[in-house]
Amino acid sequence: MTPPSLLTAIPPHGGVLIDRLCIEGAEAEALRERARRAPRLTLSDVALSDLELIATGVFSPLTGFLTQAEYTAVVRDMHLPNGLPWTLPVTLAVPSEQAEGLRVGQDVALIDGAGRLVGLLELTEMYPYDRETESQQVYGTTDPAHPGVARLLAQGDIYLAGPVWMLAAPSPQFPDLYLTPAQSRAIFAERGWRRIVAFQTRNPIHRAHEYLQKCALEMADGLLLHPLVGETKADDIPAAVRVESYRVVLEHYFPRERVLLASFPAAMRYAGPREAIFHAICRKNYGCTHFIVGRDHAGVGSYYGTYDAQRIFDQFDPALIGITPLMFEHAFHCFACGQIVTAKTCPHDASQRLHLSGTEVRSRLAAGELLPLEFTRPEVSRVLMQAYQQGQPS
Ligand code: ADX
Repeated sequence: MTPPSLLTAIPPHGGVLIDRLCIEGAEAEALRERARRAPRLTLSDVALSDLELIATGVFSPLTGFLTQAEYTAVVRDMHLPNGLPWTLPVTLAVPSEQAEGLRVGQDVALIDGAGRLVGLLELTEMYPYDRETESQQVYGTTDPAHPGVARLLAQGDIYLAGPVWMLAAPSPQFPDLYLTPAQSRAIFAERGWRRIVAFQTRNPIHRAHEYLQKCALEMADGLLLHPLVGETKADDIPAAVRVESYRVVLEHYFPRERVLLASFPAAMRYAGPREAIFHAICRKNYGCTHFIVGRDHAGVGSYYGTYDAQRIFDQFDPALIGITPLMFEHAFHCFACGQIVTAKTCPHDASQRLHLSGTEVRSRLAAGELLPLEFTRPEVSRVLMQAYQQGQPS
């Protein structure tokens, strides 16, 4: 009999958790045989991560790289042609010379950087695209200094579309933190969690993050701490350092049985508001019911307004998004209140606020000084200090 907690679990986006992982058995062998006879395409790290996210259902309902009709609808209307919200194009770009050697209807063997066969693409379409339109619509800018735009400018001219199969097991950077949506859903069911809040991050944990997480945890059964570990821009803190900061805070400051730490193997797009919707939908697929959106979610530089990533949710039918956003204003430590607050909860002026610039943080850590307790837990300061002294983060 199905346990009651599974009956009440949030449905995946589109209703079905996609599973395109095919590693063992006759079907996998047949697909591998097809791949051996097919032209080979070496995937970038981002494309490889997209393949894995499609295959494991994180990108449900996608079963492959977007067709032209899907791509156009996503870029222009932030929905798939079937009406489901979907805000970021999941595409496979190749240089036109490479596309010339391929035919629609053919299989394409997908190869990783080490030369291993990792998947198969059933090529259904090849199409050109307009970089300027995609940049402007998805990132809100065509500035080549924007990391998402820069990635788009550097990629090939033609998109390949079609369903994919992943034929090799994922090889995660943090094996003990690796969970597919099917696995996280099983854990939530086993723990009896019904209200599950997810937290996306690409930074080491600081006290404002912890405040958001704990506020949310007051209202939820469990918290999924979900640091993104896919490709980030060169000057973001390396995933290993960020993950270590989470491990130490979890060990000392959270009730272990109410938190699940797992990795989110997606690449960062820095698409701000559109990425907030995308992050939320992915976490719905992992089985979460709520998703934290704070200040400038998935932002970079000053491309987006502080709360644009919250306001964008108003443009969608909440029933189609499915997962509920938990919006938080900018949180900071106020000395007069003696705690982390936001403008919603604190009456004092800016002179009472703890503010540390990035430059100040870096120079203190480089000098071997702990950051203020109100800013970062000492355990995290030590993790960061060690990384700075070893010259890891820039
Ligand atoms: S992000 O690119 O993953 O959004 P980051 O790891 O800094 O970057 O943020 C994780 C989440 O915490 C996001 O929802 C972000 O909006 C939120 N956040 C980060 N810092 C603050 C803060 N001081 N106040 C409120 N929300 C914050």
